[in-house]
Amino acid sequence: MNPQITLTEHLKEYTRHVWQTNSEQTFTENIKLFTLQSRSMTYALAVLEDGYVAHVYYGKKIVACDLTYLLRLDENPWTPKVNRRDKATFMDTLPLEYPCHGTGDYREPCLMITDKNGMSTCDIRCKSHKIYSGKPRLEGLPATYAAEPQATTLELLCEDQHAGLEVVLIYTVFADLDVITRSVRVTNIGAEDVNLRRVLSVCVDFDSDKFDLITLNGSWARERVVERSKLHHGKQGVDSVKGESSHQSNPFFALVSHNADEDTGEAYGFNLVYSGNFFAQAEVTQHKKTRAVMGINHFDFNWLLEPGESFTAPEVVMVYSANGIGEMSRTFHDLYRAHLIRGQKKHRPVLINNWEATYFNFDTDKLLEIAKQAASAGIEMLVMDDGWFGHRDSDNSSLGDWFVYEKKLRGGLKFLVDEVNKLGLKFGIWFEPEMVSPDSELFKKHPDWAIQIENREMTLSREQYVLDFSRQEVREYIYGMMRKVLDSANIEYIKWDMNRQFTEVGSLALPANRQRELWHRYVLGVYELMERLTADYPQILLENCSGGGARFDPGMLYYSPQIWASDDTDAIERLKIQHGTSLCYPVSAIGAHVSDCPNHTVGRTTPFKTRGHVALVGTFGYELDITRIPEADKAAIPAQIADYKKYSPLIRDGDQYRLGNVFADNLWDSWVFVAKDKSEALFTFVQVLGRPNYRSRRIKLKGLNPDYNYKNTKTGEVYSGSALMNAGFNVTLHGDFTSEVFHFLRTYEQNDLQA
Ligand code: GLA
Repeated sequence: MNPQITLTEHLKEYTRHVWQTNSEQTFTENIKLFTLQSRSMTYALAVLEDGYVAHVYYGKKIVACDLTYLLRLDENPWTPKVNRRDKATFMDTLPLEYPCHGTGDYREPCLMITDKNGMSTCDIRCKSHKIYSGKPRLEGLPATYAAEPQATTLELLCEDQHAGLEVVLIYTVFADLDVITRSVRVTNIGAEDVNLRRVLSVCVDFDSDKFDLITLNGSWARERVVERSKLHHGKQGVDSVKGESSHQSNPFFALVSHNADEDTGEAYGFNLVYSGNFFAQAEVTQHKKTRAVMGINHFDFNWLLEPGESFTAPEVVMVYSANGIGEMSRTFHDLYRAHLIRGQKKHRPVLINNWEATYFNFDTDKLLEIAKQAASAGIEMLVMDDGWFGHRDSDNSSLGDWFVYEKKLRGGLKFLVDEVNKLGLKFGIWFEPEMVSPDSELFKKHPDWAIQIENREMTLSREQYVLDFSRQEVREYIYGMMRKVLDSANIEYIKWDMNRQFTEVGSLALPANRQRELWHRYVLGVYELMERLTADYPQILLENCSGGGARFDPGMLYYSPQIWASDDTDAIERLKIQHGTSLCYPVSAIGAHVSDCPNHTVGRTTPFKTRGHVALVGTFGYELDITRIPEADKAAIPAQIADYKKYSPLIRDGDQYRLGNVFADNLWDSWVFVAKDKSEALFTFVQVLGRPNYRSRRIKLKGLNPDYNYKNTKTGEVYSGSALMNAGFNVTLHGDFTSEVFHFLRTYEQNDLQA
C-alpha cells in the first residue's frame, strides 16, 4: 500500500457510544480510519460501523495515529445529558464526507434525488474501499492527471440500497504537493429510473467557523477581483447559472484563518475543474462549524439515470497551506503546470492580435501591413481575430459560417497565411464555434440547432444564439467546417471564443424528461470537441477566451494552456485582474497584451513601458495597430520582446510571490518571481498613484535564499538575500502609472555587498 494513504492499523473495536435509539441500546462500532498524507498536510476520514463516511480532520500534518477521538461520537453537546440522543440531531452535527438529503442532516447536502415514487431522500453507506497508485481519468471530463508514483487514490464504494444507487467517492492525494482532488461517480444499480437532482463534488465539514471567505468576483472587463469577508451564520458563496463559469464569479473559493495573509495563517483553496454552471458555498451551522461544498450547480439541473447508467461529477482540487495565501497559490500553480495543463511546455510565441487594432475593419492588405511591421519589431505571430468569415462586418452576422469572407481576404486564407509566414511570422485564427448568428447560412439551414424552447421567443445577446452542443451532429458539422479551414493553410494557433450566456435553455433534440440535463450535456459537448481538436491538431496552440475572461477555469486549462484574461487591457485595471487570477491560476496561463492608449475600455493613458511590464506577467503579446502607434512606442517593442524572452522561463516556471496588494493600497503594486533553485529573481514594482514629497519606497522581497548573494544585473550592485527580504530594496518613484523591473542573479561576489 502506498504510504500516502494509510488505513490505520488499529481497526480494533472502538467501544464508542454512537447514539441510542432507546435507553438500553448502545451501538458498538468498528471504525475504519483513512489518513491521506502529503508533504505537510493530513486529511482523515472514517467509515463508521453503520457505514457513514465521517470527516475527521483536514489541516497541518499529523503523524499517522488514531484520530478517531476527534469525531466525538459519544458527546451530546446540545442537550442536557439526561436527554436521549436521537438520530436526527446526530445526523445534523456529524461531520460528513458526502451528505445526502432527507435523513436529518439539515445542512447543505451533496446528493439529492427523486426516485420512482417521487421521494427525495437518499442515504449512502460505505460497503468497501480500494487504494491504488495513480489517478483515474474522469469519463468525458477534464481533470488533473498523474503518473503512478506521483499520486495515490482512495475509492470508497457506498450504496443506497433503497434507491438502487452506488456512489463512489474518489480521493487522490499528490505525493509532493499539498493537494487532494475529489470526485464522485453515481451509478444506478437498481431496476428503476432515478432522477439526480444534485450531485456535488465535495463536502468538507470544518470544526470551526473562524474563517474568512475569499472569492473572485466581477463583471465583463473586471473579472476575478478578490473579495474577502468574515464567515457569518448561514450560507454564503458564489455560483453561476449562465451556462459558463462566468465573468461574475469564478469556480474558486478559499477559507482562510482570520489572520491569514500572503505568508502566514492557514488557507484551504477549492477550485472546480468545470466550465459551466457551478455552486460553491460555505455554511456556518448552529454549532459554529463550517460546511464547505462545491460542484455543478443544482439550480435548474436534473439528470435522469436509467438502470446501469453512471454520472460523474467534475473534480474539485483542494489545496492546503499552513503558510498563507501565497503558498496556496504557488501550490495551485505547481499542480496546474505539471498535472493539468497539457500544453504547458508548448512554445508561446509573442503574438500581435488585430482586434483592438482594427475590430471588424480589416482586409488582407491591412493585416499584411501589420504583419510586416510586427515582423521587423520581433513579434512572432499574427492572430487574425473576429471578422474573417461569412460576410461579417460587424457582430450582427455570420457566426456559424466558418468559410472565408473573400471580400476581406483577397486571394483567400492560404495566400494570407503564406505571405505572413514569408515574413517570418506564424499565423493564428479566431473562431467562436459554439455560436450562431440569425443572419447566417447555418441558421437558415438549421434553425433547430440553436438552444431554444419551441414557440418561445429566443433572446438575442450580442446578436447571436448559442448552438446546441449537446448534439453530436451539431458538433460534427461545426468541426467539419473548422477542419476545412485548419487544413487549408498553415495555422498554428486558435483563439476559441464564446461570447454570450444562455437563455431559454432547451434542446429540440432531448425528450422532456432529459431537458434539464442540457446545461451539463452542453459542457460535455464542448469538452468533447476540444478533445478532438487538440488530438487532431497537437501542433496548434489553443487559447481560450469568453468575452474576455468568462471561462477562466481549470476545465478550459486542461485543453488550452492559456486563456485571455479580460477584454480590459488597461495596465492598471490588469493589476487587479491578474492579481485575482493568480490566486489559483499560474501566470503561464494568463493571456496579457500590450495595447494602445488611451485604453479602449477605460480611456486611461499609461506609459508604454508599464503596459509591457504588466503584460510580462502573462502570455506576452500585443493588441494594437503597430502601423499607427507613436514611433517611440514602436521603437520600444524589440527591447520589450527581448525582456520577455529572457525572463519568460523564470516567469513561467518560477514561484510567484505577491508583494503588494493593489486592492488594499492602490498607491502601488509589486511582485517577484523566484527560480525554483533560488538562483534568480525578477522583481516588478508599479507605482499606481504618486504621493507628494515621496521619493522612494522600500519593498521587502520574498522567496529568495537568505544565505545567497544576489546581483542586480542592471547596476551590478550586490545584496544579500537576507537583506533584500528582511530589510528590503529601495525603489525610486517616478510618477503615476510608472513601473520598474529589477533582475537579480545569484552571485558569489562578496566584496561589494550593498547591504
Ligand atoms: C470577445 C473577445 C475579444 C475579441 C472579440 C471579437 O469579446 O474577448 O478579444 O476576440 O470577442 O468579437
